Amino acid sequence: MTLLDKISNKKMVIVGGSGGVGKTTLAAAIALKLAKAGKKTLVLTIDPAKRLASTLGLERFQPKPQKINIDTQHSLWAMLLDVQHTFDTLIRTHAPTEEIAETILKNKIYQHMASAMASTQEYIALEKLYELHEKNEFDAIVLDTPPSAHALSFIEAPDRLANFLDGKNMEWFLKPYAYAGKWGFRILSKSSKMVLNLLEKVTGLKLLQDLSEFMLSLESFYEGFRDRTLKAKSILKSPQTSFLIVTVPEFSVFEDTVKFQKKLSERQIRIDAILVNRMTPLVLLTDAQKKELESLKKHDLSGKERSILSLFEKYQHLAEQEKRQMAHLKKLMPSSIDLFPIPFFEKDISSIQDLHLLNLHLFHGSGTLP
Ligand SMILES: Nc1ncnc2c1ncn2[C@@H]1O[C@H](COP(=O)(O)OP(=O)(O)OP(=O)(O)O)[C@@H](O)[C@H]1O
Ligand SMILES: [Mg+2]
Repeated sequence: MTLLDKISNKKMVIVGGSGGVGKTTLAAAIALKLAKAGKKTLVLTIDPAKRLASTLGLERFQPKPQKINIDTQHSLWAMLLDVQHTFDTLIRTHAPTEEIAETILKNKIYQHMASAMASTQEYIALEKLYELHEKNEFDAIVLDTPPSAHALSFIEAPDRLANFLDGKNMEWFLKPYAYAGKWGFRILSKSSKMVLNLLEKVTGLKLLQDLSEFMLSLESFYEGFRDRTLKAKSILKSPQTSFLIVTVPEFSVFEDTVKFQKKLSERQIRIDAILVNRMTPLVLLTDAQKKELESLKKHDLSGKERSILSLFEKYQHLAEQEKRQMAHLKKLMPSSIDLFPIPFFEKDISSIQDLHLLNLHLFHGSGTLP
């Protein structure tokens, strides 16, 4: 089965994997392929380096779909994920009153959390995918996942965020203060007052006020939000979604890939394929060429000629080693998961033409090993 067979009938394609392996590049290439196959396709990207924008011929990305100029018959769109904007919209949607929404949006703790909390970006990516999917304006949406060191943080994000918002662990000391802020210190026990007084001295009053105000306002719309995170999470398991993992032939990254697949499988999330990016290309030699190479070595070669030959052999050796590692990775995976190798390109991928070239490899094989 080719990669196109696997994804062409899906409405969402999630491209996950460890940091720096080529997720953004491959998400764009896949979106281009789907657009070329006649689908109105959107690539939802998180590319702080802005490399992809110029690859696609855009000056810069915007937090709304922008049409990419590929040709007149096909429709490819790109959109940058704007974490802060999406989060703010979410707060406005779920807060019971405008006043509560404003209180939260102006709250320092919220502002800090929305932009800095590790799982926010991951959760927002999923949330945005859910929202765009609901709107049904595109035949296919390809989601490039955030640059996190660990691929897993992406699938754990909705739970982590929900737990944080639930705030059970903070409640014990924030709640008394929150209510005290509302009703006055009278209702607090003597010891709580002492603790709070101390905390105020140590941390500064404003922080506690901000935190308690934040927790109280969150309480009022927590249910709606929780429901939303569950729906966003359900995308991961939907039969309309294809989950692809990108990896590169490096021992530690392969190890991460195996762990990632296991965790996904524990959560009943199915992976369709593993894209093994940046493989060293193996030069296939015929038997006659191999013989010729051997006899060449016996010749009286200059130092320069010898080093070129040795470099070629090292390169071939590395390519063979990577091929074996890939075969090993395949064995560790359930048989339904196909592996698609993509060679290391000598130059950076920096134009739509380059993405087309990459697609010649990505969509060429049938998931069997080279
Ligand atoms: N097959 C390839 N051959 C050569 N260069 C590649 C290949 N695939 C990706 N690259 C390059 O590798 C770099 C990193 O790729 P990319 O930004 O897509 O990775 P990423 O997984 O999205 O990274 P991050 O985790 O930081 O978001 C880019 O400069 C890209 O052009
Ligand atoms: Mg990226």
